[in-house]
Amino acid sequence: MRKIHIKTWGCQMNEHDSERIAGILSEKGYQMTEDIKEANLIILNTCSIREKAEHKFFSEVGRLRGLKKDNPNLVIGVGGCIAQQKGEEIIKRAKGVDIVFGTRSIHEIPKLLDGLSEKNKHLVNVPEQEINTILYPTLRNQGIKALVTIMYGCNNFCSYCVVPYTRGREESRPKEGILKEVQGLADMGYKEITLLGQNVNSYCYNSGMDFSDLLHYLHPVNGIERIRFMTSHPKDISDKLIDSMAELPKVCNHIHLPLQSGSDRILQKMNRGYTYSEYKKKIDKIRMRFPEISITTDIIVGFPSETDDDFKMTMDASREIEYDNVFAFKYSKRPNTAADRFDGHLSKGLKEERLSQAMELQSGITTRKNREHIGKTVEVLVEGKSKSDNGRLTGRTETNRVVNFRGHEKFIWRFVDVKITNANLSNLEGMISD
Ligand code: SAH
Ligand code: SF4
Ligand code: F3S
Repeated sequence: MRKIHIKTWGCQMNEHDSERIAGILSEKGYQMTEDIKEANLIILNTCSIREKAEHKFFSEVGRLRGLKKDNPNLVIGVGGCIAQQKGEEIIKRAKGVDIVFGTRSIHEIPKLLDGLSEKNKHLVNVPEQEINTILYPTLRNQGIKALVTIMYGCNNFCSYCVVPYTRGREESRPKEGILKEVQGLADMGYKEITLLGQNVNSYCYNSGMDFSDLLHYLHPVNGIERIRFMTSHPKDISDKLIDSMAELPKVCNHIHLPLQSGSDRILQKMNRGYTYSEYKKKIDKIRMRFPEISITTDIIVGFPSETDDDFKMTMDASREIEYDNVFAFKYSKRPNTAADRFDGHLSKGLKEERLSQAMELQSGITTRKNREHIGKTVEVLVEGKSKSDNGRLTGRTETNRVVNFRGHEKFIWRFVDVKITNANLSNLEGMISD
């Protein structure tokens, strides 16, 4: 039996690509395994968004190489964003790797595997800019939540970001294919879909259908109860989208709207296409329509030339907006990006200091906002047993908060009302309300 183990780093795009890799290979007779030692094919689906992610990959390959001693037939394949950027170089730098495939060539994996021989010990397929919106077979984890890609690539070229180089130019998937996939998911019992794209607000199919139209188009699918989407670019949030969110009850009460910085000077250097006050106006508009909405964001601290004053503006923005959650990152130099060539790179120590200040500020805000739920009853879509405490169930609210509570297994994959009794930084706790 041919067994495959897939290890995935990075964002939901990569998670979803791994589901496709699993789908393609299971059609070829491979079986998935959780146990890496049992595998005769290991696929590493990599991320290069920050340097740390890249280090993790190279040290993992070093570890896995050892497995080849006990299992000389073991094949190691590398895909994802590092593969797309480095191609051939991976074979040279990461000894032990047999095949390398790009973000838009996962359908080539079976061909690469078949091509391996005494003569062809290493094979690489990393096309530059292949247009590819084929519907691959997908092997999703069993459950009720599914990721659905609506677009590929990104055209924004934020000055710090590798994604346009690793995922290519933006391309929207035809609406009919998306609808068919969502209908199929509903038939299989999925209840929640997350529409994926680096910038879903610029979805545009045949110049006729924008992202709001797509939400209207998918909304009627029976069986799908919750619709989420990731990620929205602040410059492209339109009034039409805000109206659609209000009109469509299945669209969840949560929006992830990456701010990146509170300083207009830094935002301009980042090439984000908005000022803080333009961003804040959009937040105000959204909150006016949906007072209960949860808003989360990403910020980068220590961007080249960021002064104490610039950083203070980011902290002030966090204080003013009071996000439900903030994902804060230290700026990381990425090869080929514009910011890599900017002057004024900051020391590691200063970036770390700013990161911990930003995280400390947000921990207080997130915990307080979570604690505001105590005593209230929330609707939870139950995902399964809690990993940390098997006696408890876990699920999420419409606002994407994790809720852990005691309850019978029969509630798994169902909606239940849970009365919140306690709240922490990363989750709420409660009991089923009667
Ligand atoms: N397309 C999405 C997110 C892409 S990456 C968007 O535009 O929001 C996710 C987050 O990683 C970004 O929002 C940003 O905050 C962070 N990030 C990207 N490149 C980075 C870099 N070079 N250093 C630090 N953080 C980075
Ligand atoms: Fe990167 Fe900017 Fe594109 Fe997001 S919008 S993927 S941060 S370039
Ligand atoms: Fe990482 Fe690529 Fe996603 S760089 S964050 S896996 S698009």
